[in-house]
Amino acid sequence: MATMKTKTVWFCKSCGNESTKWMGRCPACGEWNTMVEETVATGRKQGPAVAVSVPGSGHKPMPLKEIDSSVENRISLNNGEVDRILGGGLVEGSLVLIGGEPGIGKSTLSLQIPLHCPHLKTLYVTGEESAKQVKLRAARIGGDDSNCMIYSETLMENIIAEARTMMPDLMVVDSVQTMFSQNVESSPGSVTQIKETAAMLLRFAKETGVPVILIGHITKEGSIAGPKILEHIVDVVLQFEGDNRGTYRLLRSIKNRFGSTSELAVFEMTGKGLREVTNPSEMLIPMHEEGLSGVAVSAMLDGTRPFLIEVQSLVSSAAYGTPQRSATGFDVRRLNMLLAVLEKRAGFKLSVKDVFLNMAGGLKVSDPACDLAVVSAVLSSNFDFAIPSDICFAGEVGLSGEIRPVAQTDRRILEAARLGFKKIYVSSFSSLEGLETQGIDVVKVADVPALCRTLFKG
Ligand code: TYD
Ligand code: MG
Repeated sequence: MATMKTKTVWFCKSCGNESTKWMGRCPACGEWNTMVEETVATGRKQGPAVAVSVPGSGHKPMPLKEIDSSVENRISLNNGEVDRILGGGLVEGSLVLIGGEPGIGKSTLSLQIPLHCPHLKTLYVTGEESAKQVKLRAARIGGDDSNCMIYSETLMENIIAEARTMMPDLMVVDSVQTMFSQNVESSPGSVTQIKETAAMLLRFAKETGVPVILIGHITKEGSIAGPKILEHIVDVVLQFEGDNRGTYRLLRSIKNRFGSTSELAVFEMTGKGLREVTNPSEMLIPMHEEGLSGVAVSAMLDGTRPFLIEVQSLVSSAAYGTPQRSATGFDVRRLNMLLAVLEKRAGFKLSVKDVFLNMAGGLKVSDPACDLAVVSAVLSSNFDFAIPSDICFAGEVGLSGEIRPVAQTDRRILEAARLGFKKIYVSSFSSLEGLETQGIDVVKVADVPALCRTLFKG
C-alpha cells in the first residue's frame, strides 16, 4: 500500500481561509491571530474539503424550465417557534446548523424536537454525551421516545453507513466538533475535520432527502474552529444567543435558503426543557417599581415581529480621566454617536460622564428604531428623572439630531397599544394616515431638543 503524503498548511479559525505559511492577520477576513497549523493529506486521496453541492452523481445539465419547481416538502417539528424561524417547517434534505455557546441549550432543543415528534423516525448521533446521559436528559424533557434511536459514535464513515441503512426521517448530529473522518489526517475539531464532516452530512442529506440538524459550538474567544467556517456550506444557520445564566434563550435565523432571515424565536429554559415564549414583550419589559430613572422602553422590530424591550442606562461622573462607554446588546459605536449628537445638538455635557447601556433579556439589538429609547434612557439617567412606565419610543436619531421615521411605525404603535402603553414617541415625519391608534397617544417629535422639551417638561 502506498503511503499517503502529508503537508502542513495554515487555516484561519474564523473564515477557513487556507495559507501555506503562518500570518498574523488573515488576508481573507482580516481577523488577527486566527491562523492554526494543520496537517492535510496530499495526492490522490485528498478530496475536496468544502462540500460540493451536487446532489448525487449522474446528473446532467438540464433546461431551467424543465426543473421540477413544486414546493419543497416541509416537515413540522411540533414546535411553533422553531417551525416559524425555519420558514414553515424543516425542508426535506436540508442541513441545518444550530450554533451557540456551550450550555445554552443546543442539545436540549435538538433532543426535544424528536421527543415531541414521535411520528418522525429519528437518528440522534451523540459524540459529546454518552447514551446514558442522553437518556437522563430525555427523562427530564419528557415526551415520547419510542421512535428515537440514540447512536453514540464519532466516526463519520460509520455514522453515514448507519444512517443509510436506517433511513430516518430526521437526523441530529451533536456536535460537529467531536466528529471525525478517516479521510482527513487532523484531529476532531480542526478546520479540515469540521469541513469534511459538514460536507459528508451535506452529501448524505442531498442524496437521500433526510433533513440533518447539526450542532456546533461557538466559544467567546473562538478558540475552537467554529460554525463560522460552516455558514456557507449549510442551508440554514440558527444561532442561540442570550445570557446562558438567565432563563431566556433566543434563537435567531442568520441564514436560511428556504425562508427569511433575522427571524427570532424566544424560549424559556425550564426544568423540563425549552418552553416557547409566544409573547416576548412580556419577558423584555421586566416588572419593577415605578419611578426608576434611566429606563426607557423601545418598540422594536426583530425580523417581522414587533415587540417591546426595556433599555437601561446609567450615567455617572467619570471616575478617571477617560470616560467609559459600555453597551450590552447594543453597538458601542452607535452609542458613542448618539452621545455625540446629544452633546453637539442638544448641549448636554456627556463627555465627562461614564455611560453604561443595557438591553433587557440579553438580546442583541440592531434596529435603528431603538435610538430614541437609548437617548431617552441616557437623558433620564443623566437628569435622574424617571420616564413613566407607560411610555415607549420608536425612532432613529440622525447626525444632526433629527428624529427620523422607521419602518413599519404603524405595527409598532399597534403592538404598544396592545400591551397597554398609553403614549408612544415617534418621528414627526412618520406618515400615519388612516391609522386607528387603538387609544394610544402618538406624540410626534422632530428632533432631540423637541424630545427633551416634551419628555422632561416636569
Ligand atoms: P445543553 O442543552 O446541554 O447545552 P448545549 O448543548 O448548548 O451545550 O444545556 C443547557 C443547560 O440547561 C444545562 O446547563 C442544563 C439546563 N437544563 C435545564 O435547565 N432544564 C432541562 O430540562 C435541561 C434538559 C437542561
Ligand atoms: Mg450539548
